[in-house]
Amino acid sequence: MSDSYKIKHHGVDDTTNPSTAPALSDILAARLSRRDLMLSSAAAGVTGASLSLIPTLAEAAQAPLASPAKLGFTAVPFSVADRVIVPDGYSAEVLYAWGDAVGLKGNSPAFRADASNSAAEQAAQAGMHHDGMAFFPLPQGSRASKHGLLAINHEYTDDGLLHGDGMKTWSGEKVKKAQAAVGVSVIEVEDAGKGRGWRVVRPSKYARRITANTPIGIGGPARGHALMKTEADPLGVEILGTLNNCANGKTPWGTYLTCEENFDGYFVNESGTLSDNEKRYGIKNKDAGYKWAWEDFRFDLQINPNEANRFGWVVEIDPYDPKSRPVKRTALGRFKHEGATVTLAPDGRAVVYMGDDQRFEYIYKFVSKGRYQAGNAKANSRLLDEGTLYVARFDADGSGQWLPLVHGQNGVDASRGFADQGEVVIKARLAADVVGATKMDRPEWIAVNPKAPGEVYCTLTNNAERGGEGKPGVDAANPRADNKFGHIIRWHEAGGNAAATAFKWDLFALAGRPDAKSDAHKGALKGDAFGSPDGLAFDAQGVLWVQTDVSTSTVNMKEYAGMGNNQMLAVVPQTGEFRRFLTGPSGCEITGISFTPDSRTLFVNIQHPGEPENERSDPAKPKAISSWPDGDAGSRPRSATVVIRKLDGGVIGS
Ligand code: FEO
Ligand code: CA
Ligand code: CA
Repeated sequence: MSDSYKIKHHGVDDTTNPSTAPALSDILAARLSRRDLMLSSAAAGVTGASLSLIPTLAEAAQAPLASPAKLGFTAVPFSVADRVIVPDGYSAEVLYAWGDAVGLKGNSPAFRADASNSAAEQAAQAGMHHDGMAFFPLPQGSRASKHGLLAINHEYTDDGLLHGDGMKTWSGEKVKKAQAAVGVSVIEVEDAGKGRGWRVVRPSKYARRITANTPIGIGGPARGHALMKTEADPLGVEILGTLNNCANGKTPWGTYLTCEENFDGYFVNESGTLSDNEKRYGIKNKDAGYKWAWEDFRFDLQINPNEANRFGWVVEIDPYDPKSRPVKRTALGRFKHEGATVTLAPDGRAVVYMGDDQRFEYIYKFVSKGRYQAGNAKANSRLLDEGTLYVARFDADGSGQWLPLVHGQNGVDASRGFADQGEVVIKARLAADVVGATKMDRPEWIAVNPKAPGEVYCTLTNNAERGGEGKPGVDAANPRADNKFGHIIRWHEAGGNAAATAFKWDLFALAGRPDAKSDAHKGALKGDAFGSPDGLAFDAQGVLWVQTDVSTSTVNMKEYAGMGNNQMLAVVPQTGEFRRFLTGPSGCEITGISFTPDSRTLFVNIQHPGEPENERSDPAKPKAISSWPDGDAGSRPRSATVVIRKLDGGVIGS
């Protein structure tokens, strides 16, 4: 496959943050030793207060550590098997794979193994490359754990699998099919009982596909902004579609947040020149490989220069109302959104944590102006339109600041090219550059500990460019040069208040193999090894779950030798113990985590099984790497949602 077909959906081949930070390697040793102290003190049940010279998260919380959750399963080993492996005593069953009917009434086209489904059929079927996901109980407002809705992201397409002959020929119909294969599925699911397991309810009045062509409203400061106006939408109030839907969030008021990550790859500006805005977001003069602009001029920035400003947002969806219009919440900023993790401050303000997943990009949070009001759906539906967007600075002494991205403050004003708050959120990366945020090693998912107020974890998946020539050097929060394995950072908001503007932080884990000699693994965690942490979520028991996305190109690095397929681990935060719970089929990424309220069913997504190194399959040999989930007798490898249960019906992980 030629280079021009290389998509690199993760969008990390290049760096669009041009500045370099000073090397702070002298501080590294101190920060790491503090981390070791914290882990060992937590393990020994010693509170941070006894280590008076060393500030710890426990001190910052001014609260006792919660008693550690217990893991009751036996770890599974590394695996290269082309299947999902879970511990003894657990089952893993496929629920909803690419091409399965979503369950629209009177419109349930069957998946065709030769990928000959039309674009219209694809729009009534599961999209490709499942990613973030959330379970919503039915009836709404209940804690039902055997019946509900699943909202599922479909991140991007492998056009080598999506079309019968891949990209050998190209057409408007193929672009339409790709546009129908991204976005979101809402499906109704139920546990059929009597050992029959979970199934998709078809037809369902809730069933819905949101694609790259679904009308979506705009809320917040960018609504109606000059930079959001196009010929098709002269008022700047309605966008067609959402795409590259990566991770997700779920609000306390029962809505789903889907996050637009590598939107740049769908656009092209062949004029030969690029604006600062386009450059900072990775827009290129050459098509990145999806070829949408070839057939749909909406994605040609010479014809529609503002269309790219309409992507890179968090989109709010009401899964319970299939007729409701999703809304892009622009107050949360425009960047390559990984997820949007929502929690409430003690005073009821909504706080949303968000990573921008590219090398040397930032961690953000949004704090709403209004307060969550239980049962007041109308008021809650406006919470994400007004508030303050912040970006994180991690200081070398273990403290940190949330820096406001507010027009007129800290140099974010007309003198730096920001006419108003609308322009600030549209160019959030550029505003974050102005205030001096910390450049991170690819911020992915963020999780809030339900057992420790204000304690937050973020996966930093990897960054082999850290410390490279002309690139930012190591700093306290990103301490490894050539960071192949990634790490997990943790912070504690001042006073345990998610809305605070100051925090204390530490390095929770450096990924890698503790038994390996290579420098790349130095300082690696205790417990089961992994690399490239990505998906991250807490369960109700306070166990932290980590999913990995070692890309196919990375997995071939010698340092990753012997680490097998991507995996999912359970972690006890108080002890730092990592225990491997699941391994996936060949060439896949594990992503998407959602538990039923009773914690007895876990939904996980297997994304891109069989992915080749260039991320585009050969349509002549689609099963070269994996034939999951249908097996050799089946069709092409398919991303799918998997249901995991304990055979004795117990709590997952117990
Ligand atoms: Fe879509 Fe950063 O993973
Ligand atoms: Ca991810
Ligand atoms: Ca990733």
